[in-house]
Amino acid sequence: MVRPPLHQLELSKDEMRRYGYEVVDHLVEHFTTLADKSPVQLATRQQMESLLTETLPMSPTPPEEVLNHVIENVLNKNGAISHPKAYSFVPGPSNFIGSLADALSSGFNVFAGSWMASPAATQIEIIVINWLLEMFHFPVKQGGGLFTSGGSMANLTAIVTARRIRCGEDFSNSTIYLSDQAHSSNIKALNILGFKKMQVRIIPTDLEFRISLNKLKNAIYADKLAGKAPLCVIASAGTTNTGSIDPLDSLADLCKAENIWFHIDGAYGGAAILAKNSNQLLKGIERADSLTVDPHKWFFQPYEIGCLLVKDYNWLTETFTEKPEYLRDVEGNSSEINFYDHGVQLTRSFRALKLYMSLKTFGLDAFKQAVKYNIDLAQKVEKVLRQSDQWEVVSSATIAVINFRFNPLNQSYPESKLDEINQLISQHIIESGEALLATTVLQNQVVLRMCLINPRTSYEHVMETITHCENFAAGVL
Ligand SMILES: Cc1ncc(COP(=O)(O)O)c(C=O)c1O
Repeated sequence: MVRPPLHQLELSKDEMRRYGYEVVDHLVEHFTTLADKSPVQLATRQQMESLLTETLPMSPTPPEEVLNHVIENVLNKNGAISHPKAYSFVPGPSNFIGSLADALSSGFNVFAGSWMASPAATQIEIIVINWLLEMFHFPVKQGGGLFTSGGSMANLTAIVTARRIRCGEDFSNSTIYLSDQAHSSNIKALNILGFKKMQVRIIPTDLEFRISLNKLKNAIYADKLAGKAPLCVIASAGTTNTGSIDPLDSLADLCKAENIWFHIDGAYGGAAILAKNSNQLLKGIERADSLTVDPHKWFFQPYEIGCLLVKDYNWLTETFTEKPEYLRDVEGNSSEINFYDHGVQLTRSFRALKLYMSLKTFGLDAFKQAVKYNIDLAQKVEKVLRQSDQWEVVSSATIAVINFRFNPLNQSYPESKLDEINQLISQHIIESGEALLATTVLQNQVVLRMCLINPRTSYEHVMETITHCENFAAGVL
């Protein structure tokens, strides 16, 4: 079959089919051999420059050649954040259905901004948002939300909404409260939005890394006495460092009594609502005014999909609706939602599709089992570490995150030496390609941090890594 003229940027039907099958083959190969690959791919800028320096291509290259180049030199030259031994940061376990759903939504190039352009995609986004509202016990009729690029954008959208609904245009007297363990995206959002440093109160945490309620109250009352207007408390439902969950119910009481907007950043830990043995920890999450969850983390979706839920969908339209003349034919009636009026983006991709298709394909019970499996695995690992005379658990397994450090019982190394050893262990494990096991700092100690939210991570994977750590440490001491 002949190819259409070059300027149409198309392939022939046969070529498309062949190309598409090849792409799918590469994806299947990737998913089924992931565990055999290295989770880490380190390279210097110089190495990348020599591999990938390219001039602007003026003339065509055969499609398969480009594809093979990309598979070999680009996609296989990155770390694999879905690898069972990618323990660091918040990994992205992803899933195959979700990835192909992304291919479909980008293939059909769905514009998920307006009802008029895409009534069915909008309806699916409404449905999936309603499912999430139901999971988090938010009111489905009055509540609302939207899918965003990730948790950072969801937090930003929440704070813009809180500011608009509570302050209107003048927020110069407003103050915002969050703990020293809150995720940096919240601070970034406050900076983007023009809150000054003097408007932001960083509240210390207790020994379990939860916001100190007492210190928060002191800060709020001191601000009130000084004539300030407390605007918003940002709580963490699963801090990135330790998985700690702020006392949500008590914070909700406080916010209600003081008429303060209550935002919960559940980007990491919100998904623990699915696990029977942990959802009690999230008691009070349903009382938030706004809640960030992040399906590209522990709801197992490929990047990018974050989500903001709110108690009252009118808050979003009141904050984000603009009515330019060129969109006047798109407005529709009030029951026809235009998601571009609910958030920052006008043109937006059909992110809801991947969560919709994976939830329907596997069923919510599978997701529940996966989250429970992750939480149980972290607890099992904690037990092993506690029973070893080599390791000290620095923060208990909390919704699948555990922090620990090499600190042999029969030795007494100075703190600086322990910091050095643990840093070296992490460096060695990463550089050897054994695992992605980075450090963090808790109470001034360098610790190793494992975030075990990948349902393909087995107990054996973790034990292999721990043994590697021990062997390396024995060699350097
Ligand atoms: C608690 C928390 N909030 C927000 C974010 C930011 O989310 P994203 O990376 O999806 O923008 C993260 C990311 O790890 C997080 O752990």
